Parts: sequence; C-alpha cells; structure tokens
Amino acid sequence: MASYDVIIIGGGPGGYVSAIRCAQLGLKTACVEGRDTLGGTCLNVGCIPSKALLHASHSYHEATHNFTKMGLMGKSPSIDWKQMLSYKDDVIGQNTKGIEFLFKKNKVDWLKGWGSIPEAGKVKVGDEVHDAKNIVVATGSEAASLPGIEIDEKIVVTSTGALELGKIPKKMVVIGAGVIGLEMGSVYARLGTEVTVVEFMDNVCPGMDLDVSKTFARTLKKQGLKFVMGAAVQSVETNKTKAKVHYKLKKNDKEDMVEADVVLVATGRKPFTDGLGLDALGVALTPRGQVATNDHWATNVPGIYAIGDAIEGPMLAHKAEDEGMAVAEVIAGKKGHVNYGVIPGVVYTAPEVATVGKTEEQLKEEGRAYKVGKFSFMGNGRAKAMFAGDGFVKLLVDAQTDRILGGHILGPQAGEMIHEICVAMEFGASAEDIALTCHAHPTCSEAVREAALACGDGAIHA
Ligand code: NAI
Repeated sequence: MASYDVIIIGGGPGGYVSAIRCAQLGLKTACVEGRDTLGGTCLNVGCIPSKALLHASHSYHEATHNFTKMGLMGKSPSIDWKQMLSYKDDVIGQNTKGIEFLFKKNKVDWLKGWGSIPEAGKVKVGDEVHDAKNIVVATGSEAASLPGIEIDEKIVVTSTGALELGKIPKKMVVIGAGVIGLEMGSVYARLGTEVTVVEFMDNVCPGMDLDVSKTFARTLKKQGLKFVMGAAVQSVETNKTKAKVHYKLKKNDKEDMVEADVVLVATGRKPFTDGLGLDALGVALTPRGQVATNDHWATNVPGIYAIGDAIEGPMLAHKAEDEGMAVAEVIAGKKGHVNYGVIPGVVYTAPEVATVGKTEEQLKEEGRAYKVGKFSFMGNGRAKAMFAGDGFVKLLVDAQTDRILGGHILGPQAGEMIHEICVAMEFGASAEDIALTCHAHPTCSEAVREAALACGDGAIHA
C-alpha cells in the first residue's frame, strides 16, 4: 500500500499521457492497468495495429496495381498472412514497451491489475488498497454490439478480432460504415476479400461533411468495396464456418440477406467503466452512460475526475490525450484547457479523410453566412505523381471575416495536412493568412493553400 497525489485508472492514451504529465508537474503518480501491456485499446487492439495492417495492405496494393505503371517490373508479391500479423504484433510491442520506458523515465508507478474505487481517496488493485488525493478514471470504451448479435471474435468479430483473423476471408460483411468499418474493410478489400458494408444511414461516416462523405463513398466503391445503404441489420445467423447477415431496407421495408465468412460489427463503442464501483460511490452518469464531468473533468464526487472515451465527446485517442494533459494541469493547480472546436478526425484509408471544425451542413443549420474554397488534387502535381489525384481540400470560412470555420480533406496524407488548418484555427486565422503563406513546391499541402486562395480571388491551378 502506498500513498499518491494522483492515481490514474487506465493505461490508454488518455491515462498514460495524463500520468506522464502529472509526474512532470511534480505529482507523485501511479497508473493502474490490468492488461499485460500499457497503451490501452489504441496501442494494443486499435489505432496502432490497424495502421500497421493499413500500411502493409496499402503497400501490397501499390505493388500489385501501380508498380508496373512506374516501370517497376517483376513478380507481384504474394501475401504471407502470418508474417503480416507478426509484423503488426512487432509494431504493437515496440510501442507498448515505449510507454513502459516513459513511465520509468518519469517515475510513474505502474500498478498492475484491474482497479476499483472502494471509496473516494482510495484505489484497490488486487488485494492492495492505495491512497490517492486525486483519482482519474481513464478506462476507455468497448465495442457496442447490436441486440441479438453474438460476438465470438472468430466469425462475428469486433475490431479486436478483425486484427487477428486466422486467415484472410473470401467474403466479409462489415456492419456500419463508420471509421472502424471503412478502415478494416479497406484492409481486407486490398488483400483480396470481397467486402460488403451494410450501413443504417444513407451516407458513409454519418456526421462528416456531405460533400466529402459522398466523394469518399464513390472512391471506395471504385476500389471494390460494395455498399448496402439505408439498411438496418436485424440479425446474424452463424454456423461453424459462415454467417448470414439479415437486414431490412429502410425505404421499402424489404428484407434481404448477405453471406460472409467473417462479419465485422462496427456499430460504435460505449464507455467501459465496469467493476470500478462508480455506482456505489454515487458518481453521476450522462443519459448515454458516460461519466458526467464539468469543464475541469471533475465528477460530482470530490477528488474523482474522468477523461477520454469514458466521458462525453468524440471517442478519439488524441482527444483523450489532450484531456489527460489538461486534467493533470488542473490537479496541479494550473489552468488545463482543451479546445473542443479544433479536434481533428482522420480516417486512415487511401485516400485518407481528415476533417476539423464545422461541416457545411452544420453552418447551414446555424444560419451562418460562409464561403467555400475548394481545390481538387487533380491540380496538384505531387499527388498526381503518386496516383492520388482523387479528392479535394475544402475550406469553409466566414463570409464577412474570412475566418476559417472548418477544413475537410479527402486525399493523400490528409491526416498530416489537416494540422496546418488546425493551427490556423487555433490562431483564429483567416483563409487569406494561409493563402499568403509560402508553401513548398511540390507538396500535397499546396492544395490547402489553393483552397485558401479559392476563398479569395481564386486558386491558381484550378
Ligand atoms: P462509428 O460511430 O464511427 O460508426 C458506426 C456506424 O454504424 C454508423 O455509421 C451507424 O450509422 C452504423 N450502424 C449502427 N447501427 C447499425 C445497424 N443496425 N445496421 C447498420 N448500420 C448500423 O463507430 P465505429 O466505426 O464502430 O468506431 C467506434 C469509435 O472508435 C468511433 O467513435 C470512432 O471515431 C473511433 N475510431 C476512430 C478511429 C480513427 O480516428 N481513425 C479508428 C477507429 C475507431
């Protein structure tokens, strides 16, 4: 039993970042994590492993589709699935060990086991109860399935099972055209799987700028993904090797079915707070089951804070990280701050989709006068050299002040380029500020400048 200034429960991106920041601010800190490795869902079964498989499958796609176009001849590579999975596991290992190293470097104690809060000021891990002046709940989220669908992580899988299938399936049905569905659907489509995505709404990634969402869906269809839109999945029937996904079309109530070797259920995630004892402590939840917090991530119980997927807001690792740093500063008596208006969202397909700020639909709903500056990657030399002319940059700016309100990119390295727009928005910049900034040539980022120019007197290469 030890006594700490802060104990953080959960070693994912929210928790481990918070722990490191607390320690940097001079607080005696411990982080509770029950997995064998640190890093939470993101590093172990989420962002990082999926990016490894996206990178491997994209490289395979390049080798089989684009190499000969560039005069790179020779036998096409074949897929060694076991080796691809072991490369992915290696990437996971390097990253999770990296966090362990950072804990040692910053003198954060890793309390191994699953934590609970028997009373305010105490955290129980295994048989030991530790004192904590402050407790941060950073326990993340888990896959939310649909009623009546049983996950076995073999035939009917969540993203966790999809990252370690025994073999590459011939046919896969993805339920939900959200971020997980489209990223993992892309991985398997590139590796030769026939992928059908069944989505309840009429557009992919509901909530995304419609212009982007529509072009994104067209691009994915060109890559071979099939879509059944406006379809509510009713049930999944399985035998030992196959599954049948039954759905009902919203427009005419027609029922239909699609068969698959593997079904990926990607219909969202829900906060994971089981076993913490929040109920007994009287910690208030939102109507959606998230831990309710105030502007400083404090719950209604003094000394207990919560961050990340366990609370409201987008379930994104970087949002959790920002909250982790901010809550550490609040606990240390400083001013923690997160600008929720400037949190980028990225879908790591090829092309990538990256968005920040308002969508055009949101601005219309707000009745705000805005201008649109759009530039296609077809006019960008660097993108064309990479067979990546599909897509565009779209900037939404205030009609009177030219201030940037939103940025949306569908294109190569969109997830990297979006940060220029994020920084501009943090500084309250206008499109003209970006347009007047010299951008190196030839880069894909020139398309961002061209979109900014399009908000004024016009893009040059359009
Ligand atoms: P999501 O919320 O992004 O998408 C779920 C989709 O399932 C929605 O389009 C919804 O309309 C659809 N759906 C729900 N019920 C359905 C039904 N009965 N039949 C057909 N479709 C149905 O959730 P997803 O993709 O599972 O991701 C979970 C969370 O993880 C999200 O918050 C996401 O942002 C996050 N994530 C982020 C990543 C990134 O930033 N690159 C990568 C992976 C996950």
